[in-house]
Amino acid sequence: MKAASVLDYRELARRRLPKFLFEYIDGGSYDELTLQRNVADLRAIAVRQRVLRNVASIDLSCELFGRRIALPVVLGPIGLAGMNARRGEVQAARAAHAAAVPFCLSTVSACSLREVAAATPAPFWFQLYAIRDRAFMRDLLAQARDAGCDALVFTVDMPVPGSRYRDYRSGLAGASGPRGALRRTWQALMRPAWAWDVGVRGRPHGLGNVAPILGNKTGLEDFFAWMRNNFDPTVTWRDLDLVRSEWSGPLIIKGILDADDAVEAANLGVDGIVVSNHGGRQLDGVPSTARALPLVAEKVGDRLTVLADGGIRSGLDVLRMLALGAKSVLLGRAWVYALGAAGETGVAHVLKLIEAEMRVAMALTGVTHLTAIDRRVLIDETTGACEHRSPEARA
Ligand SMILES: Cc1cc2nc3c(=O)[nH]c(=O)nc-3n(C[C@H](O)[C@H](O)[C@H](O)COP(=O)(O)O)c2cc1C
Repeated sequence: MKAASVLDYRELARRRLPKFLFEYIDGGSYDELTLQRNVADLRAIAVRQRVLRNVASIDLSCELFGRRIALPVVLGPIGLAGMNARRGEVQAARAAHAAAVPFCLSTVSACSLREVAAATPAPFWFQLYAIRDRAFMRDLLAQARDAGCDALVFTVDMPVPGSRYRDYRSGLAGASGPRGALRRTWQALMRPAWAWDVGVRGRPHGLGNVAPILGNKTGLEDFFAWMRNNFDPTVTWRDLDLVRSEWSGPLIIKGILDADDAVEAANLGVDGIVVSNHGGRQLDGVPSTARALPLVAEKVGDRLTVLADGGIRSGLDVLRMLALGAKSVLLGRAWVYALGAAGETGVAHVLKLIEAEMRVAMALTGVTHLTAIDRRVLIDETTGACEHRSPEARA
């Protein structure tokens, strides 16, 4: 099967990856209501077809935190993404560099900051979680500086981890000790191409940035136990002082869903926010980002850079997010499916697909520049009215 879309890559990843890994990237928390809403709400937004507007020349580039990028797209932070292909984060960062878009490395990556910095020519972004051990946080920030990272994403929607039923069912969570490891080994053996690529050729395996503090504990269970015990539920807005004292570059807060929180972030002078519910992996039942974004953008869009993610599976989805008020978007599962299916080539292809889909979406909505994308490219299907204002503003 040759992939023609992000969802094709999802299917290819399902066939290539061990079950526990595919379920880990594909799944959400609890009943996955928010995960489904992210995708469904975005898809339900109708776009407004316009014609006869000379769309021969379409410009998809924009400036993001001082850097010119080719598409309004960032490869968002994905924990353990590197397990999906051999030295996976390095492959993804290379694909992002070739496409002239930023790559964001997760705190809990499989490849470390140093490895990615050594293997890729372009600066990349780093994502930081609030960790109980503040010295370790400072150390990560120092490493990010040394690695030349050009933006910091501080993720704030994980003071405690949400529970993902699929991880229990697949054996990634819950089954501790040799039983869990045996189940995962069996699932890996059922996927020989992955086992050879990642399990054998991908050696030495490590747990990226957290490897030094895990010491000789190298199992996935040790890793998840560390996350459970070391993510900091006491974190507050005041902890931004620590981050600011160690980081002078662009600071982006990820995991904002509420307009009041967005205002708080703007008052503290951060450079950007990501409207995000962690891809439906944290609090199940919260609104989709497509629903949350318009009000947030209306409240703070003129004070900081508003980014968004959640459920984006096509270039048309990117256009929808921009029309709702995002300056640029983060891809999540979209790039990880491609990485799992076809490594760097897959990620590069997904970025090409998104670009091509955006070009068609912009041409047929009659816009040639990203700055022209706003609510006028959307339409209310039931009334036929152009969606100039958010539902909240209209109420
Ligand atoms: C497997 C997986 C791991 C993730 N790990 C992280 C992470 O380490 N840090 C983070 O800030 N967000 C993480 N996220 C959330 C993504 O950055 C992003 O917000 C989300 O995937 C967007 O939703 P989408 O995948 O539906 O596009 C993760 C998401 C997935 C699917």
